[in-house]
Amino acid sequence: MAAPPPRTVLVTGCSSGIGLAVAVQLARDPQRRYQVVATMRDLSRRGPLEAAAGETLGETLRILRLDVTSDSSVAECLGGVPGGRVDVVVNNAGVGLVGPLEAATGPQIQRVFDTNVFGVLRLIQALLPQMKQRRSGHIVVVSSVMGLQGVAFNDIYSASKFAVEGLCESLAVQLLRFNIL
Ligand SMILES: NC(=O)c1ccc[n+]([C@@H]2O[C@H](COP(=O)([O-])OP(=O)(O)OC[C@H]3O[C@@H](n4cnc5c(N)ncnc54)[C@H](OP(=O)(O)O)[C@@H]3O)[C@@H](O)[C@H]2O)c1
Repeated sequence: MAAPPPRTVLVTGCSSGIGLAVAVQLARDPQRRYQVVATMRDLSRRGPLEAAAGETLGETLRILRLDVTSDSSVAECLGGVPGGRVDVVVNNAGVGLVGPLEAATGPQIQRVFDTNVFGVLRLIQALLPQMKQRRSGHIVVVSSVMGLQGVAFNDIYSASKFAVEGLCESLAVQLLRFNIL
């Protein structure tokens, strides 16, 4: 029996850390089950990903620009995906903020929520119509233990991850009927 076609997996925040590791791991799948769209907001930071991707680059992994805080960047990125089709999205991009609450500036707080909350919302909203139409899809959101329990001096970050937990808990039930897991 012929193998099913590879699934397109879009990962955000692949310039470093978890996003980079997930993208490379999937691209190196021995059974080549995934076509990875590894995204980052600043393509000048693509060196470590390219090095880790090795021979998968241009084969099972491609790199596109995506700033999750920008509607136009999301649209442009999805426009660069063949057929615009994304089977699996890994919302990984995130930023932290540590320190006493009164020391945090408005722009710093805004940045955390723009990235960790509205960034996740923006991409899910963009992808839900196609996933619902196909009645298939996977939405992964990288949260944190601080989305379940607050931690001193991480008030803003923790609040942003709690928001994401609420979003996912609510969505998960509704999306079951569309076979989106
Ligand atoms: N590491 C941990 O212990 C831990 C624990 C719990 C949860 N997490 C979560 O895991 C996720 C990944 O974190 P990490 O530890 O791998 O940290 P990281 O190495 O700092 O990676 C964060 C990634 O997000 C990207 N990013 C930031 N703002 C963005 C934007 N506006 N658009 C697109 N990408 C953006 C960063 O890109 P730039 O390079 O351009 O900044 C970077 O690629 C985050 O959601 C984080 O909250 C991490």
